[in-house]
Amino acid sequence: MRFKKVVIIGGGVLGTQIGLMSAYTGHDTTLWLRSEGSVGRTQPKVEQYSAAMIADLEDAKKLVGNPMGAFLYPHGLIRSWEGCTVEGIDELIATAKKNFKELFHLELDLAKALEDADIVIEAMAENPEQKIEMYGKMKDLIPEKTILCTNSSTLLPSMFAEYTGRPEKYCALHFANTIWKNNTGEVMGHPGTDPEVYDQVVAFADEINMVPLQLHKEQPGYILNSMLVPFLTAAQALWANEVADPETIDLTWRLATSAPAGPFQILDIVGLTTAYNINQMKPEAQVEGTLTWKMGQLLKEKIDKGETGVTAGKGFYDYTK
Ligand SMILES: NC(=O)c1ccc[n+]([C@@H]2O[C@H](COP(=O)([O-])OP(=O)(O)OC[C@H]3O[C@@H](n4cnc5c(N)ncnc54)[C@H](O)[C@@H]3O)[C@@H](O)[C@H]2O)c1
Repeated sequence: MRFKKVVIIGGGVLGTQIGLMSAYTGHDTTLWLRSEGSVGRTQPKVEQYSAAMIADLEDAKKLVGNPMGAFLYPHGLIRSWEGCTVEGIDELIATAKKNFKELFHLELDLAKALEDADIVIEAMAENPEQKIEMYGKMKDLIPEKTILCTNSSTLLPSMFAEYTGRPEKYCALHFANTIWKNNTGEVMGHPGTDPEVYDQVVAFADEINMVPLQLHKEQPGYILNSMLVPFLTAAQALWANEVADPETIDLTWRLATSAPAGPFQILDIVGLTTAYNINQMKPEAQVEGTLTWKMGQLLKEKIDKGETGVTAGKGFYDYTK
């Protein structure tokens, strides 16, 4: 294993998941949090996600021998489905429990957290000013050898490189939500990233069971969101323009492409609040009567009713039944 100590900055949804995945794959992992209050908010997430990972492994045992298993197994937790046995999964569960307990640490002291780090993943909230401030604080505490990555979804590494004090050792490593199942690791450098560092980040992504997806240049939205956002927007436009209802739009997509989920099922997973925030960033969203404005209104109606997606139990579909 090339990377011995992994440090995650920020214990939100993604920071917690990345930290657990790093510990799961045998890395000494420190999740830095800014306050005691953050510990209270992060600890339940640690419990929730580690339990979900174990539950998905338990479920995977039922897939052994099932031809659909190769499609449905949790790709981040089981490196290869070929030859996978119930006993093998039991071993993974035992190791996971041990690693979560022994290798995953929460830390409030930044200097202590960063000490001897091989790689640091910044997974703080999507706020450029706060990220810059954090890079400033970390600059003189990070050892010379350390590689620094951002998990930012919408901001480019070139926006921050100069503030890190190590532009050549800085790039983006972008994960997807529920990383133990959706194990993409989009690796995106900025023009000043050292190609050797880039290759090491690719190797790290692989070490923590992500599939490294290499971008050759900076691209807002990376590969995934460059495709997904326009696709979801097109579906919402059909709905807002009263061409068809969400169920019919989803059915069309599933039947015609054999995809397991349609755009509104995906929107329920992403969360309607995120979809609304993305929509409202467009200038036309503020112009009454435009289709983008109407899409915002329709999403807001659902959000105001608490129908924000799968985690709320209801979005475009009802998950309580
Ligand atoms: N949620 C997703 O689906 C997703 C997917 C891929 C990438 N990301 C990216 O990951 C990053 C984090 O997203 P998230 O969804 O985990 O957000 P989140 O809101 O769940 O967590 C953000 C974390 O940052 C911490 N934080 C905020 N300001 C801070 C500060 N000034 N100092 C220290 N800590 C601070 C918060 O306490 C919290 O723990 C963002 O850059 C986002 O774009 C999110």
